[in-house]
Amino acid sequence: MKVTFLPSNTVVEVEEGTTIMKALRQADIKIDAPCGGNGTCKKCKVKLITQEGEHTVLACQTELVRDAVVDVSRKDEGHRILMGGISRDVKLDPAVKAVTVNVPKPSTSDLRSSWDRLRDTVAKLTKKDPKLIKPNISLISKLYCTLEEHNYKVDAVICEDEILDVVPVGSPVLGLAYDIGTTTIACYFIDLRSGTQLAQASLLNPQTTYGGDVIMRIKYSVENGVEGPTGDVRKALNSLALKCAEEAKKSMDSIYMVTVVGNTCMHHLFMGISPASLAYSPYTAAMTDPVQVNAVDYGFTINKSAKIYMLSNIAGFVGADTVGASLSAAMDEAEKLTLLIDIGTNGEMVLGTKHRRIACSTAAGPAFEGALITYGMRGAEGAIDHVSLKNGKLEYSVIGDLKPMGICGSGIIDLLSELVRVGLVESGGKLLMGDEITDPEGIKYRDLVQVVNGIRAFVIADETVSGSGEKIVFTQKDVREVQLAKGAMAAGMRMLAKKLEVNIDDVEVIMIAGAFGNYMSPKSACGIGLIPPKLESKVIGIGNAAGQGAKLCLLSLSEYKRAEEIGRANEYLELAAEPEFQDVFVDQLEFPSDY
Ligand code: FES
Repeated sequence: MKVTFLPSNTVVEVEEGTTIMKALRQADIKIDAPCGGNGTCKKCKVKLITQEGEHTVLACQTELVRDAVVDVSRKDEGHRILMGGISRDVKLDPAVKAVTVNVPKPSTSDLRSSWDRLRDTVAKLTKKDPKLIKPNISLISKLYCTLEEHNYKVDAVICEDEILDVVPVGSPVLGLAYDIGTTTIACYFIDLRSGTQLAQASLLNPQTTYGGDVIMRIKYSVENGVEGPTGDVRKALNSLALKCAEEAKKSMDSIYMVTVVGNTCMHHLFMGISPASLAYSPYTAAMTDPVQVNAVDYGFTINKSAKIYMLSNIAGFVGADTVGASLSAAMDEAEKLTLLIDIGTNGEMVLGTKHRRIACSTAAGPAFEGALITYGMRGAEGAIDHVSLKNGKLEYSVIGDLKPMGICGSGIIDLLSELVRVGLVESGGKLLMGDEITDPEGIKYRDLVQVVNGIRAFVIADETVSGSGEKIVFTQKDVREVQLAKGAMAAGMRMLAKKLEVNIDDVEVIMIAGAFGNYMSPKSACGIGLIPPKLESKVIGIGNAAGQGAKLCLLSLSEYKRAEEIGRANEYLELAAEPEFQDVFVDQLEFPSDY
C-alpha cells in the first residue's frame, strides 16, 4: 500500500493496518505525539484525504487500509526557542586550541617519521610528555603532504594530550555547544580562536514523535530500542551544525570540539545508552560521569578527529542541563540562599549556597509546555501567551499577532491565576459555574464558563475569533493538570528547604531557567502558588542557562572541570523516597486564596 504525505509529497510503502504514525516514522516525518501514541493527548491530528473527502484523524490511532494521502502541514511553525541566557565572562582557554609549529624537515641526519617530528615539536612547545601523545591515524594519513605543502610551518590543532589536525597557519578552529532539551535543541557556533559566537540555530527535538516527555521516550526506548530516538537526535545535532556552518560560511572540517548538555534521558539517548534504569525504581542514571568521546562515532560530519565533551549528570532525573545551568549561574559561588529552577517538561531544582547545594526533580509533567492541556500548544505563532481579566473583559495577546490557535505555558499560568483571583476557580481547584459563582468580580465572567463536550470549561476564544474555527477553552481537566504540576514543584521546593534546614520564605534569589520561566509572569506564578507568594520580588528569569553552561565549557577547559566539580558536589534528594513528600504535595495542591 502506498501513502503520500503532504506537503512534502513523500511517498512510502506500508503494510495494510499500519498506523499513520508508524508510516510517518517510516517516511522520517516527525509530528508531535506527547502521549506517546496512546490516543489521549489528541495532539497528533492530521488530515486524511480520501475520495469521500477530508477527515481530521489521530495519526496514532488510525490504521491505513488502502492507498492514502495524508496532510501533515504543521500549525506550530515559528516556534519560540530561547537561546540567550545568564552568562559570565570567562578567560578564553578552550580544550581545543591551535599552536603554530616549525616542524624540522626530514634529512639524512633526522630520519624520524613525520609523526615523530610533529609530536616531539608539539610536546616541547606545550611542555607535554611526548609519550602521552598518541598517534592520530587520520591526521598521519595526510601529514607528510600537508607539511611539504606549507614548508613545515603549520598550526597544530591540539586537544589536551592529542593532536587533532595540522592546518595552514591561522586557519579557523571552531566549536559547537548544544543544549538538548526534551522539546527543543539549541546550538551555538563559536570561533575558538577569538571566543566570538558566529551563529546559532535551534529546532524542535525530533524525538517528540516518540512522546512529549521523558517518561514517554524512556517507555518507547525500553520497548523498541534506542535506535530511533538516538538516530533522530544525532541527525538533528548534525543538521544544526550544517546550518550554522553554512550561515557563517565556514567549513564543517574546521569544527574540532562539541560540548553537550541535556537532561539525563536526553544525555543517554544521544549517547545511545538505554534509559531503562530511569524507568524503574529507584530511577538511577546509567552513568553520571563527564565523558569525552569522538564526534565521528556520534553522527557528526565535522572534522574526523573532533571531540565531544559531555557534561556530567547528577542523578536519574537531574541531568547535565542542571549542571550547565548551575555553572552559568555560578551556584558554586552563591553567597545568598539561591533557588535555581528549570521548568521544562520536568521541573528540576537546586537550592543552596556556595557551601552546600541539594537538587531534586519533580514530575511536573509537560503541562507548562502546553502538552496534555486541551488547547495547549508550545510558545509558537498563534499561541496565547498572556491573559488578563479586567473590568469584566477578557484580554489576551497572541504570539505573532495572529488569530489564536491555542494557549502556551505563560498564558496558562496567567489564565489560571486570574481565574483563581476572581473566584472562578476555588482553592481546591473546582471550576465554578452559574450560581456557584459568588465573587462579585467572578460574576462578570459567568457567561464564559460553559459545559463544552461534556466538561466544564472557561471559553477563552469562541469560534468567530479563533484561528482554527474551534472554540478555545480551558477545561476543568486542564485545571487539574496544572494543579498537579504546580503542586509537585511547590512541594519539591519545600522538601529541599527542609533538607537544607532553611525556611522556603528565606530564599533570597529565585532564578528561573528555561523558556517557560522566561516568559511567565512571576506574579501569575505566585498567584497559583507555583512560587511562594512572598518571594515574587526575588524572581529573575535566566533564560537558557543550560545552553550558556555548555558554551562556557566550550570556551574554557577550566569551566568544564568546574562543571564536573559542581555535578560531583551537588547532593540529590529523591522525593519518592521521602515519606513526607506525599503530604506536602497534597498541601501544595491548593491554590492560594489570599494572593
Ligand atoms: S493522541 Fe496521538 S499521540 Fe497522543
